[in-house]
Amino acid sequence: FQPKALAGRHVLITAGPTFEAIDPVRGLTNRSSGKMGFALARAAHEAGAQVTLVAGPVALPTPRGVQRVDVVSAQDMQRAVLASADAADVFIAAAAVADWRPASTSDQKIKKDGSGEAPTLAFVENPDILAGVAASPRARAGALYCVGFAAESHDLLAHAQAKRARKGVPLLVGNIGPDTFGRDDNALLLVDEAGSTELPRAGKLALARQLVTEIARRLPRR
Ligand code: C5P
Repeated sequence: FQPKALAGRHVLITAGPTFEAIDPVRGLTNRSSGKMGFALARAAHEAGAQVTLVAGPVALPTPRGVQRVDVVSAQDMQRAVLASADAADVFIAAAAVADWRPASTSDQKIKKDGSGEAPTLAFVENPDILAGVAASPRARAGALYCVGFAAESHDLLAHAQAKRARKGVPLLVGNIGPDTFGRDDNALLLVDEAGSTELPRAGKLALARQLVTEIARRLPRR
């Protein structure tokens, strides 16, 4: 009898874009579809984990057996992640979190005033959810295994290695281009302390199952 790879583990996953409001009808977002994060949630559940999926605005069905928390902004996403991080054994940050948000949000729709002048938007930086969780005492003690993603247009290995160090995570997963947003397939570059390995191009669910297996292999034994 082979127990499932993630039996008894709690996996926390972020997925999709965030939406940063400008006013009640406008905002900033990006083209992340959430497909990779949702595939990971499904694969982790299949592997026996209890799964919490914190999802930005996406049009995807909730994988069976997965607890889903819908959020809008990066700050909402961070709150939802921090609410579950203490109970998690694994944190996979697959969301494409907006780097910046408007410095203020107007309560009312910003109207054209007829002057012909366009409004100017000021931005502030959003919190880095992954780096924050990776710096927590449980993560630093190895009790919470953190996995980050990187989407780069060039020099993927060098950028992934640098991002792994900057975020303070044991495993950084690079999306091997072309642009993966919205696609059903992907190829991944896994970068950890031992070096790098490639998961060749495949459907996102197939890749998610492989990545879950790779993560399970790296968890401390209990
Ligand atoms: O810095 P960059 O956005 O390229 O890092 C990507 C990784 O960090 C992804 O795993 C993403 O989910 C995570 N991230 C985050 N919070 C942010 C920005 C990125 O969790 N504010």
